[in-house]
Amino acid sequence: MPTVLPGATLGILGGGQLGRMFAFAAKRLGYRVITLDPSRDSPCGQVADSQIEADYLDESALRRLAETCDVITYEFENIDARAVEFLEALGKTVHPDSRVLRISQDRLLEKKFLSDAGLAVAAFMAVDSPEDLEAAAVKIGLPAVIKTVRGGYDGKGQAVVADTAAAASAFQRLYRGHPLIWERKIPFLKELSVVACRGIDGVASAYPVSENAHVDNILDASVVPARISAVAAAKARAVAEAVGDKLGIVGAYCVELFLVEGDGILVNEIAPRPHNSGHYTLDACVCSQFEQQVRAMCGLPLGSTAVMKPSVMINVLGEGNGDTLYGVDEAMREENLAFHLYGKSRAAAKRKMGHFTVLADTVDAALSKARAARALLRWG
Ligand SMILES: Nc1ncnc2c1ncn2[C@@H]1O[C@H](COP(=O)(O)OP(=O)(O)O)[C@@H](O)[C@H]1O
Ligand SMILES: [Mg+2]
Repeated sequence: MPTVLPGATLGILGGGQLGRMFAFAAKRLGYRVITLDPSRDSPCGQVADSQIEADYLDESALRRLAETCDVITYEFENIDARAVEFLEALGKTVHPDSRVLRISQDRLLEKKFLSDAGLAVAAFMAVDSPEDLEAAAVKIGLPAVIKTVRGGYDGKGQAVVADTAAAASAFQRLYRGHPLIWERKIPFLKELSVVACRGIDGVASAYPVSENAHVDNILDASVVPARISAVAAAKARAVAEAVGDKLGIVGAYCVELFLVEGDGILVNEIAPRPHNSGHYTLDACVCSQFEQQVRAMCGLPLGSTAVMKPSVMINVLGEGNGDTLYGVDEAMREENLAFHLYGKSRAAAKRKMGHFTVLADTVDAALSKARAARALLRWG
């Protein structure tokens, strides 16, 4: 594919906040952006040149997207891969391609891919029947995390089980006629992630490691650089780059990792798109993960992944008690704080409404300023 120069039109499947931040980056470079999303007034639709309001599998909508866009991407991995395959069959380039999407939206294919690639993952096994549960308890062991293979996010569709009785009831709750995955529960020291991007030239380059804290399985805060040894950080970035190379991905992606005793790094999962834990790159790097996504899909050289300052990113979630965020004005008194809100009109409980990033000379200083800013925010 020849380089897609600014002025061209980029398509994106999905109109959420990741699409919105992609659109900002693309617009800043002079591209036009069209998003396809089923919901009216989507966060990306608000800032894109236009939105095609349709289902992801609506063939006439996909045709329209293919006809109007020079190259296409997607902003989340739970879209039906048939949508991407349909675009490819029309001769359209989609980055990352449907093969990458298929692997990363299926936890079993993903874990097999990673272990075949020689990367360390939690021991796992497919479970498709109550008998399989017995076998998994012996072969993989307990405690375990049982997950649906597809469709899960933010910890939805999974259960942590300590014994076989709990495994049986989790199986009953989660099983819908498709295999589940039984993973050994990893006693990790920290959860880390690395956002990286691989260009059309096949070179993958990783950003510094994020250290992630989750609350109720939803990302709460990312601290960059992660407070881990230099050995572990180098390993984490090398693993992320290896994942990109083995996948042959073109685009920005994220590798979620577990840090274990002895500076061990295990891969948890892959997201074939920019990631919440990489939002710090918007404010702490010359070239954000979203700009990298644009550059990669257009065949442009990638930008620097260096961070200019330590940063802490905090997610702002809805609370289900009002749609106005009070205290933003007070939080902005901290002048090294950058606020991002996603234009969602309803602040339902736990809905990702925005985030902010605080930059400081040290991680500790950024953390204390970020905590102080968070304490000022309330929905009403
Ligand atoms: N094998 C595991 N061992 C320990 N904790 C796990 C394991 N798998 C998942 N978790 C925990 O559950 C969270 C969500 O699981 P993950 O596989 O990342 O699914 P999601 O797609 O919902 O993000 C992880 O961030 C981690 O805290
Ligand atoms: Mg995850």
